[in-house]
Amino acid sequence: MECRIFDDYNGLSDAAAELIIQIVERKPDAVLCFATGNSPVGTYRALAIKAKERGIDFSQCFCFGLDEWLGIPPEKKGSCHYLLYEQVFHPLGIQESQVHLFDGLTKDIDMECRIMNGEIDYAGGIDCMLVGIGLNGHIGFNEPGVDMELRAHEQELHGSTLASGQLYFNEPTAIAKGITLGMAQVMNARTLLLLANGISKSEIIHKACDGPVTNEVPASYIQKHRHAVLMIDKEAASKLDK
Ligand code: PGA
Repeated sequence: MECRIFDDYNGLSDAAAELIIQIVERKPDAVLCFATGNSPVGTYRALAIKAKERGIDFSQCFCFGLDEWLGIPPEKKGSCHYLLYEQVFHPLGIQESQVHLFDGLTKDIDMECRIMNGEIDYAGGIDCMLVGIGLNGHIGFNEPGVDMELRAHEQELHGSTLASGQLYFNEPTAIAKGITLGMAQVMNARTLLLLANGISKSEIIHKACDGPVTNEVPASYIQKHRHAVLMIDKEAASKLDK
């Protein structure tokens, strides 16, 4: 695991955007997977600006979404679908044909998961997966205690996830469950880029990096990932042992 600590959120966002660009420059048909949430917003902004300035071509890339709220329509502001199109795909000129996302309205969750797993396999796996970390150590919707062997699956969400999730919506929204790529897919990403900023993330960053590797803190598995890059600001790093 490589850990890079930045003075502030802008520095972190800039470096994360550069890393994604490097991957796409090296492999124009890279397979990318993006999370939503507050942590990557600055990265997506920087990526859009840099891609435009430097003419970075995403037209051969294929993109997956990390997770989705079950029962939430794609067009609703706050759904992962809505946010990824708004923050990533539209600014980078990525077309619908280059994207596969979970359908939060699916009536057949098993089928939805099988299709997602099949699409990832067909794409040859994920070159770069960008994720945040939940206050409880989740990655995507892989909550503490999750089976690490799972691929795409449905997940009952914990209270802290529901509380922070509520903030992405403009109005009180009934959310209870999610659908997510599993930790097996997180661990298989050829590059795993994990972002965290702010003092509220310092305790969980300490647990994930310095604590035991355990499914009670799914993000602690970054310690075992073959190529994880942790990009955090000074505040999120403030409780690290070293
Ligand atoms: P955040 O969420 O980026 O909004 O802090 C991260 C997460 O819960 O996975």
